[in-house]
Amino acid sequence: MCPNLKRMARVFSGIQPSGELHLGNLLGALVNWVDHQKSHDAVYCIVDLHALTLPKNPEELRKNSLELAQLLIAVGINPEESILFMQSHVPEHSQLAWLMECTVSFGELNRMTAFKDKSGRNEFISGGLFTYPALQAADILLYDTDLVPVGDDQRQHIEITRDIAERFNSRFGDTFVVPKHVIPPAGARIMDLQHPERKMSKSELSPAGTINVLETPESITKKIKRAVTDSDGDVRFDVEEKPGVSNLLSILAAATSSTPEKVASSYSRYGDLKSDTADAVIALLRPIQEKFRELESDPAETSRLLTLGSSKAREISSATLGRAMQNIGLLET
Ligand code: TYM
Repeated sequence: MCPNLKRMARVFSGIQPSGELHLGNLLGALVNWVDHQKSHDAVYCIVDLHALTLPKNPEELRKNSLELAQLLIAVGINPEESILFMQSHVPEHSQLAWLMECTVSFGELNRMTAFKDKSGRNEFISGGLFTYPALQAADILLYDTDLVPVGDDQRQHIEITRDIAERFNSRFGDTFVVPKHVIPPAGARIMDLQHPERKMSKSELSPAGTINVLETPESITKKIKRAVTDSDGDVRFDVEEKPGVSNLLSILAAATSSTPEKVASSYSRYGDLKSDTADAVIALLRPIQEKFRELESDPAETSRLLTLGSSKAREISSATLGRAMQNIGLLET
C-alpha cells in the first residue's frame, strides 16, 4: 500500500470453534467486535486450526464451525461489510505461522500461561498447543491490524504478538503493523457462576456455571438464581472479597452497557440483583437466538458468505505474506 494513503484503522479478532458459544465470549469479545464494525475496517476469523491443538472429533468440529459462523452473524457480524472467514480457508495463516515460529523463542512460548493451564488439564499435549501463539501472531499480523478486541485472558497472546512483530521489523525491516489489544471496561472476565474464582469456559467442564448463548430463558434463570454468592448480604463490587456477587454485577453491567460500580449502587439484596441479571441476559440473548434459528435453516448461504470472506481475506493476507517472505530472505518463485 502507498505509505501516504491513509486507511481506516483495522480491527482483527478470532474465536475457536470448540464447543458452544458462552456468555463470556459474547460479553468479553463479540459485543466489541460488533461495535468496532461501525467505525473500523473489521476482519473476523473462526480459528479452526487453533481448535486442532486439542483433540477434536472431526464431525463435531465441522458442525461447530458452521454453527459458530451462524452465531457470529446472529450476534451482529455483517459478512457483506466486514470480513468473516475460516482460518483453514486462507493458507497464508499456516505459512506465516512458520516464519513466526522461527522468530519467537522457546523461552517466550514456555512462559505462556494458557499453555501451562491447558497442558496441565490434558493427557495428550500436541506440539501445536505449544506453538499456538505463533499461529495467533500470524493471524493478527497478516491483516496490518491496529486493534485486537479480546477478553482479558488473551492479553499475554497479544503482548507476544507485539514482541514478535517488533523483533521481525527490527531484524528484517518494516514489515508488520504492531497491534494493540482492546479490552472492554465491563465483561472482560466473566467468571463461572459456580466457581467464580475461575473464568467461564466450555460447558462440559461446568454446565451449571456456564450460560450458553443458545440456552433457554428457564435454564438461564435457574442458573443465575443458583449462582454462588456469599453470606454477608452486601451488594458491592469487590472481585477479591466478593467474587460471586462481583461476577453478577459485571454480567448485568456488560449486558446493559453500564459499569459494575454503578449497577451495584441500585441494589441492596442479592435476590433482586439475580432476577434483574437473569432478565437482562434473557433480553440480550433473545434476538440472537431468533436470528440464529433463521440462519440455521440455510447452511448453503452461510457457506457462500464464508467463501466471500476468505477470498477478501486472501487479497490482504497474500500481500503481507509476500512482503514477509521477501524481507526474511526467501527466494521468489
Ligand atoms: P477463545 O475462542 O477462547 O475466545 C474467544 C474470545 O472470547 C473471550 N473470552 C472471554 N471473555 C470474557 N470472559 C470469559 N470468561 C471469556 N472466555 C473467552 C476471549 O478473550 C476471546 O477474545 N486464542 C484465542 C483465539 C484467537 C485469536 C486470534 C484472538 C486465535 N487467533 C487472533 C484474537 C486474535 C482464543 O482461544 O479465544
